[in-house]
Amino acid sequence: MGKLNVAIMGATGMVGQQYIRLLEKHPWFEISILMGKRSAGKKFGDAVEWVGSYDPPSKVKEVVVSEIEPEKQAADLFFSCLPSEVAREVEGKFAQKYPVVSDTSAYRMESDVPIIIPELNSEHIKIIERQKRERGWKGFIVTGPNCTTTGLAVALKPLDEAYNVRKVFVTTMQAVSGAGYPGVPSLLIIDNVIPYIKDEEEKVARETRKILGKFQNGIIVENDMMVAASCNRVPVIDGHLESVYIETEKKVNVEEAKSILRDFKGVPQELKLPSAPEKPILVREENDRPQPRRDRDSGSVPGMSVVVGRVRKGLDEYSLQFTVLSHNTIRGAAGNAILTAELLYRMEYIK
Ligand SMILES: NC(=O)c1ccc[n+]([C@@H]2O[C@H](COP(=O)([O-])OP(=O)(O)OC[C@H]3O[C@@H](n4cnc5c(N)ncnc54)[C@H](OP(=O)(O)O)[C@@H]3O)[C@@H](O)[C@H]2O)c1
Repeated sequence: MGKLNVAIMGATGMVGQQYIRLLEKHPWFEISILMGKRSAGKKFGDAVEWVGSYDPPSKVKEVVVSEIEPEKQAADLFFSCLPSEVAREVEGKFAQKYPVVSDTSAYRMESDVPIIIPELNSEHIKIIERQKRERGWKGFIVTGPNCTTTGLAVALKPLDEAYNVRKVFVTTMQAVSGAGYPGVPSLLIIDNVIPYIKDEEEKVARETRKILGKFQNGIIVENDMMVAASCNRVPVIDGHLESVYIETEKKVNVEEAKSILRDFKGVPQELKLPSAPEKPILVREENDRPQPRRDRDSGSVPGMSVVVGRVRKGLDEYSLQFTVLSHNTIRGAAGNAILTAELLYRMEYIK
């Protein structure tokens, strides 16, 4: 089998750089087009401010970045990590002909567009049949969540199935790479915490309810759990840490909750997809874990496992407290999108 040609829209950004790294040796996908605006016309290696600790692959460094021209560009699959305002028009144009897997918020909350975390809600993918039919598209758009939603939703899924989660209170400590490049000026974030991230708290609440909703009679019925988020930017490079308190309908046993989290698996693990971590959730027992620097790359596929720690009793037997860590540009963006594309390929939505 030949590899599928994939294009990356927004290749030089914080998420784009993760795509370049994660796709370098991918068994099914090969990078064919890199796209950008300011970097268009330059070799990727000259245009990019590479943030990772080792160089970009030498083959990719030589690729000349193109401007986005939906009428002229063709690929088997388009990954989009553009700013949302740009993504709205561009993703829709490509989806007329091609599959688009997007990290942006442009289409996330449209009723015929799924927000996919493959271990959680692969059945939502079916909604793209309606999307294609009603919009008259040959291709489609599938999105991934906001990076802050991802870790929270992964940890909530098995707990909701076991205990029926009614309320969620989450306080985040979010890495600077979540704001894109160049992101938050160093003079504002070093030695500081910024207790506000525009639109983030609303996104976490809305997206969590949609992702954890059920696919019934051709529509996604949102989960009715209530979510209150307080989002903070902290001087960490990668990895969003979240302190979570949940209230449940059923009584919670702390040890049982830990093993439910530990044992959680989904369709990607059953199908042994190339980017699927053996364990979507890792549970730490130490009092001082997870920590972004030490735990963001843990697991069998670095950056793809969500790490949960400090699992403990809440105020009564119908509550639980814990801390969640997820790598925002890998599980929260490029890695999750690549895993989604692998699933779409195995389900024959991408050919
Ligand atoms: N960072 C995260 O942790 C994260 C997680 C989940 C989702 N997201 C979402 O993913 C998207 C990308 O985030 P990011 O952090 O990677 O942002 P970023 O670092 O600012 O990168 C943006 C990219 O988009 C390109 N771009 C900007 N305007 C363009 C235009 N008009 N036409 C073509 N290309 C254009 C830029 O290329 P040039 O410089 O060449 O113009 C750059 O490659 C955003 O929608 C964000 O909300 C980010």
